[in-house]
Amino acid sequence: MTKQPQEIALMADSGRLLASVFAQLDRLELAGMSTMAVNDLVERFIVDELKARPASKGQYGYAYALNSSRNQVVCHGVPSEAEILQRGDIVNFDITLEKNGYIADSSKTYMVGAVPAPAKRLVQVTYEAMWKGIKAVRPGARLGDVGHAIERHARRHGYSVVRDFCGHGIGREMHEPPQVLHVGRPNTGLVLREGMVFTIEPMLNQGRHAVRTEDDGWTVVTVDGLLSAQFEHTVAVTRSGFKVLTLRDGERMPN
Ligand code: CO
Ligand code: CO
Repeated sequence: MTKQPQEIALMADSGRLLASVFAQLDRLELAGMSTMAVNDLVERFIVDELKARPASKGQYGYAYALNSSRNQVVCHGVPSEAEILQRGDIVNFDITLEKNGYIADSSKTYMVGAVPAPAKRLVQVTYEAMWKGIKAVRPGARLGDVGHAIERHARRHGYSVVRDFCGHGIGREMHEPPQVLHVGRPNTGLVLREGMVFTIEPMLNQGRHAVRTEDDGWTVVTVDGLLSAQFEHTVAVTRSGFKVLTLRDGERMPN
């Protein structure tokens, strides 16, 4: 379950390219765009500019370069011409990119225009929760420590953590062992070792943690219809702690 330094260097290359995709998204005026238009821009940028491959395309029969998950959609939302982003929406774009055989995976929840304070707070706390999990990563720590750090931060702010979907090992395949739960008890679970690479991608709900999949077989929504937010990074365990392979330019870990 561990990778060699040369493999991690290649994954870091993929991660840097993926970070540059989000830099493109950051520049977009999302209000009024369809989620399909965002998908098409991302796909063209990955293929034409980065000479890389959108890894989600063709995986499990999926046809697009990203998942777009808006408002009460928890994850795996499918881009659509008919879905026009409106001011006040929150929307997660989840993107995987393969270059030289190695895959990186990252997602970010965007706020479209000015969003209501409760939505903004959910997005902020979800971002912080992801970092609480990342900061728990070091050799000798255990996956339960990571899940616990995320869950504790979510609960402290009155949010629940989705249990039906989790982070995952990543490398030549998009989904490798281990599964990385975003809840847990300290000092339980897999012991982390230098060279492991996995995603941390908590989904936090305003209301209850229960989710269901819609009839399209992809779109996962909150059962209570309240908002959900998510952030994701690909993280390597280093000798002294962690390295975020998908870190974006100017992105700083919050206190
Ligand atoms: Co992802
Ligand atoms: Co992932």
